[in-house]
Amino acid sequence: MINENLVPVTIAGIGMYVPETVIKNEDIAKIVDTNDDWISSRTGIQERRVVSGNETAVSLGVNAAKDALAYAGISSEQIDLVICATSMPDNLYPSSACEIQAAIGAQNAAAFDISAACSGLIYGLFVAKNFIMSGTYETVLVVGVDVHSRFLDWTDRTTCVLFGDGAGAFVVKKSDDGINDFLSVDIHADGTKGKELKIPLYGKNCPLVEPNDEKKQIVNMNGKEIYKFAVSYVPESILNSLSLAELTIDDLDFLVPHQANMRIISAIKDRLKLNTDQVISNLEKYGNTSTASIPIALLDALDNNRIPDSSLLALCGFGAGLTWGTAVIRWRAKDQRKL
Ligand SMILES: CC(C)(COP(=O)(O)OP(=O)(O)OC[C@H]1O[C@@H](n2cnc3c(N)ncnc32)[C@H](O)[C@@H]1OP(=O)(O)O)[C@@H](O)C(=O)NCCC(=O)NCCS
Repeated sequence: MINENLVPVTIAGIGMYVPETVIKNEDIAKIVDTNDDWISSRTGIQERRVVSGNETAVSLGVNAAKDALAYAGISSEQIDLVICATSMPDNLYPSSACEIQAAIGAQNAAAFDISAACSGLIYGLFVAKNFIMSGTYETVLVVGVDVHSRFLDWTDRTTCVLFGDGAGAFVVKKSDDGINDFLSVDIHADGTKGKELKIPLYGKNCPLVEPNDEKKQIVNMNGKEIYKFAVSYVPESILNSLSLAELTIDDLDFLVPHQANMRIISAIKDRLKLNTDQVISNLEKYGNTSTASIPIALLDALDNNRIPDSSLLALCGFGAGLTWGTAVIRWRAKDQRKL
């Protein structure tokens, strides 16, 4: 049941940014034993972007944040809180959120990071919505950024073909017209399955205590287990989130899934009996951009006029943790960039 006493919340802006460097499937085939046909048919991915030179997770996040603020037509001084959902920050501290806050001049905002891998943006929306609904804050910037290219073993064909770098952002705000567009958000975790998808972080003990080995901080993944997890847990989360909003799958206009893999997306679509044109995807261009993939896919669809005003959307994320979750929202954001 929706509590009428809570502050109504809306998404006022969306933004994205990807690095310029494009790596095609054929390029990866030059460094590992793979080919375009295998990658395209198993994943749907044709190319991805990777950071280079001075690009960092924060620089991508800053560009996506500025894009979302322009979309919403609000200034950085109006932001009360910056949340950065990232699992590959540039530093252990300061947080990426603090660095983004400084770079965009959001001097009135508190700032912190959330680590929930590919579900990070949904976790971020959950926190933002609750802060606004409770009356704590009016405007929250949620940025999702991951730079997997720095944490992949580029000699391991089973993982290096899957991921790309990118950033996405949402401006979540108290709704000016009193209409609540956040119908429900449902987040979950199962830490017992954490080992199935992991990037270990190796600190070093004091050399006076014991000698240190060099260990690689790279993606370790059990692809089959992750596939099984995604196709069983994610449809359930979508149905649960719709049910929390007193809706059914028949009410849904579009599903915007985390862009992990075309086979996973297709299996989720089939389980929910959705039509192909109800499912938003652009992973052929960017690969799995982790926490950033939902806004990157949604903004692409908006720019191509695929999402009519007032559409009912389910945004669903899933990934390391393991974590998963769904946000059911009414899309009414006006693009101030185009006005
Ligand atoms: C990764 C994934 C595409 C692999 O597909 P799969 O059908 O399970 O493939 P398998 O792991 O069974 O491998 C089949 C064969 O292809 C090979 N292979 C793996 N990666 C390859 C590549 N990039 N190019 C060519 N061959 C490859 C394997 O070595 C194996 O060869 P073998 O039969 O000689 O041993 C699939 O498991 C998947 O989508 N998992 C989810 C991953 C994911 O999305 N993770 C992120 C979630 S946020």
